[in-house]
Amino acid sequence: MGYHQPVLLEECIDGLVIQPGGTYIDATFGGGGHSNAILNKLTTGKLFAFDQDEDVNEIVNSIKDPRFAFIPVNFRYMKKYLRLNGVNKVNGILADLGVSSHQIDTPDRGFSTRFDAELDMRMDQGADLTAKIIINTYDEASLQKVLSQYGEVRNAKTLAATIVDSRKQSPINTIAQFKLVIKHLIPRSRENQYLAQVFQALRIEVNGEMEALEALLYQCRDLISIGGRLVVISYHSLEDRIVKNYINKGVVHGDPVKDFYGNLLRPFKPVVKKPITPGVAELQANTRSRSARLRIAERV
Ligand SMILES: C[S@@+](CC[C@H](N)C(=O)[O-])C[C@H]1O[C@@H](n2cnc3c(N)ncnc32)[C@H](O)[C@@H]1O
Repeated sequence: MGYHQPVLLEECIDGLVIQPGGTYIDATFGGGGHSNAILNKLTTGKLFAFDQDEDVNEIVNSIKDPRFAFIPVNFRYMKKYLRLNGVNKVNGILADLGVSSHQIDTPDRGFSTRFDAELDMRMDQGADLTAKIIINTYDEASLQKVLSQYGEVRNAKTLAATIVDSRKQSPINTIAQFKLVIKHLIPRSRENQYLAQVFQALRIEVNGEMEALEALLYQCRDLISIGGRLVVISYHSLEDRIVKNYINKGVVHGDPVKDFYGNLLRPFKPVVKKPITPGVAELQANTRSRSARLRIAERV
């Protein structure tokens, strides 16, 4: 199996409206599918790619192209690291959020409910926080908050109480142990969906995904030149809401900022009103694309 099959590839490349001599950013390199397609459109331009997972190194090292530079850090520090590379403005930024197929399909990374492994879920293997730490040390209220806020888990209160009760007897270290502890709370008819929600919540907390996304979006305002493009694929409604709010209102939460005359003060304008989703052919070829929602905006 390949590292990752790029999602909405053509739509992303079209959305970036690539100028052959421009500077572009792939915030989420993964298997490099989008990066390679961007490079193919460049002549004298440059591409900087970010990823926080060291597993991408092999693919990164296989790209022998002087127009390509890889920056192995969390994209929440994008502006700083671009500045260190002498870049203050770019023509477009692409972010294909979430985890890669490689991460999900590697059992010991702990992302998948299909395997047994340590409760890990870190995209950045050097980070301190793991799912095991969250499950064994967060107090009940914090656990409940993570589960309901990031997983929209309906019985989050009971689930958090069950976890706290169980870990008093012995620590919950592995996916199998965790599934056993919460087994009686999983609705029979929607076991997979329920576990996916719980795992999503833990993964978002482990990786600080919401904070990283917010930080990225606000930096895009400073980084993208007027007329440049922001292209973001999200895979769940929490992410999509943040992206949508930022593009439409100029803020990720709360009320939009307006000037004295009531005009919206937003750094981007949406290029497409509704998010673009994969077509039938892509859905058939790649079921993992099913929750993808692509938003495109132009810096104004
Ligand atoms: C969906 S995959 C990207 C796939 C890629 N577009 C391709 O075509 O192969 C997401 C990648 O982004 C990385 N990632 C997610 N959040 C990140 C962050 N905050 N900073 C840096 N990398 C991140 C993950 O490690 C993962 O490799």
